[in-house]
Amino acid sequence: PLVPVSVLLREAAVEGYAVGAFNCSNLEIVQAIVAAAEAEKAPVIMQASQGAIKYAGVDYIAAMVRVAARGARVPVALHLDHGTSFDQVVRCLVAGFSSVMIDGSHLPLEQNIALTRRVVSAARPVGVSVEAELGRIGGVEDDIAVTDREAFFTDPEEARYFVEQTGVDSLAVAIGTAHGRYKGEPRLDFDRLTRIKELVPVPLVLHGASGVPDEAIREAIRRGVRKINIDTNIREAFVGAVRHKLDENPQEIDPRKILGPAREAAIEVIREKMRVFGCSGKV
Ligand code: G3H
Ligand code: 13P
Ligand code: ZN
Ligand code: NA
Repeated sequence: PLVPVSVLLREAAVEGYAVGAFNCSNLEIVQAIVAAAEAEKAPVIMQASQGAIKYAGVDYIAAMVRVAARGARVPVALHLDHGTSFDQVVRCLVAGFSSVMIDGSHLPLEQNIALTRRVVSAARPVGVSVEAELGRIGGVEDDIAVTDREAFFTDPEEARYFVEQTGVDSLAVAIGTAHGRYKGEPRLDFDRLTRIKELVPVPLVLHGASGVPDEAIREAIRRGVRKINIDTNIREAFVGAVRHKLDENPQEIDPRKILGPAREAAIEVIREKMRVFGCSGKV
């Protein structure tokens, strides 16, 4: 059975590592994530973004992940990434997701609290854990001026109040990461992360971790991050292998000969991340 993310993060907190949360929207990447977790003996979270839901649909994703988890000797969670509404959360609960994120970070604080509370009240009775977001993580494409950057960061006092008011199981924080590829090297506000950790009793989540140097990832884990989201680095590895294969053999028309090597490339990058996160060998 699929395991709630909260259960995996509780164990991660005891031992001081982070669990990888990897985005998936097709068969090959689902298989790559579970194969990597098995090879590393690591607990793992598979997550479906808004784009994944549009592309494959909630039911296909849930079915693929359920089959992957059934054959696995490691615990597997299925998580909704950046859930947009209460209705979408309910659709995921019905489809068998073991965890959901509700992203009300664009809302005024009290509205974010109200929406998140409503999601917690629906998910908790059915044993599904809830992640919420406070502060704006955004994408590199948002192009926020450096001086305005911190206005979007998570405020530690507000985070304490938010978690108290909502009862969420984990909190995604904005400390300088962004979705997608970075132009330069990301600079993370570690002092802020530590302050949030001191005030907030639940595990913290780092989004936009593709492209963050390994040493910064390790520092974030030392300071209390317990779930780390990776999407872009998998896409790069997967599509890079597709390109390579097609360059090598432009006549290839068997999708399996193209996507098989792409799946292998995804496995490698996911395994490397798991070693950095410290979750390897924890099962
Ligand atoms: O939410 C974070 C994802 O990396 C964005 O994914 O393009 O599949 O919605 P998407
Ligand atoms: P990256 O694409 O930067 O890895 O971010 C993934 C993410 O945070 C998904 O929620
Ligand atoms: Zn994210
Ligand atoms: Na990123």
